[in-house]
Amino acid sequence: MNSTLYTSSLQAVIFDLDGVLVDTARFHDQAWAELALGLGYVLTEPDRHALKGRSRADSLEYLLEQAGWNDADPSQKSKWLQAKNARYLELVEALTPQDAAQGALVLLDQLKSQGIKTALGSASQNAAKVLQKIGLDSCFDTVVDGTRTTRSKPDPQVFWMAAQDLGCEPAHCVVVEDDLAGVPAAWAGGFLNIGLGDASVLLGAHRVVHQFSELSVLGLLAWHFAFNHNNT
Ligand code: BG6
Ligand code: MG
Repeated sequence: MNSTLYTSSLQAVIFDLDGVLVDTARFHDQAWAELALGLGYVLTEPDRHALKGRSRADSLEYLLEQAGWNDADPSQKSKWLQAKNARYLELVEALTPQDAAQGALVLLDQLKSQGIKTALGSASQNAAKVLQKIGLDSCFDTVVDGTRTTRSKPDPQVFWMAAQDLGCEPAHCVVVEDDLAGVPAAWAGGFLNIGLGDASVLLGAHRVVHQFSELSVLGLLAWHFAFNHNNT
């Protein structure tokens, strides 16, 4: 096969943060579960999946609805959001570069060496801190996070902004996601997407892998090329 075709096909990879590059989902879970318990509600497994990928404010709205709190006022909501975030940040303090997902740095280095751009596309307002804690803060060509976006996944805004920063069309990018909000966001934005994690949860993804070691730059180029070739 012609390698020029490969490189002209895939130009960028956009990575979600929480649950993809680092297992912070357990910290978000814990902080929400503690807050929920204070409201007399026990977080369920479906709740944990539903909360992943959503912005902090959207997550609180979801939680309040589940807990049957329909009349909370904005100042109370703001206190809950602060409390959840403070607890989350306490838990994040324990992170070190050893917590970066195994194989993520290798893939990022491979992509860079092949001239493929990389971006972070996360709903988190704590992305800069988490990236710094796991030692990936200087690994991306651009970082789009919850401090820049105005719409939460499953809206594709975060991925569109990343693609725009990189000067790449969605058709030339791949998104790597782990959750039920991120995969539909990638679809809605016109991105090929790879779900990282449990195939029974990530049913809508174009492809599912369990870990980064299943992804190589050559494999990604070939897959992206083949996918577009078979669908044109
Ligand atoms: C997403 C997480 O990446 O970021 C969600 O999957 C989280 O669980 C969201 O709610 C917002 O994160 P933060 O750090 O701004 O509260
Ligand atoms: Mg995620």
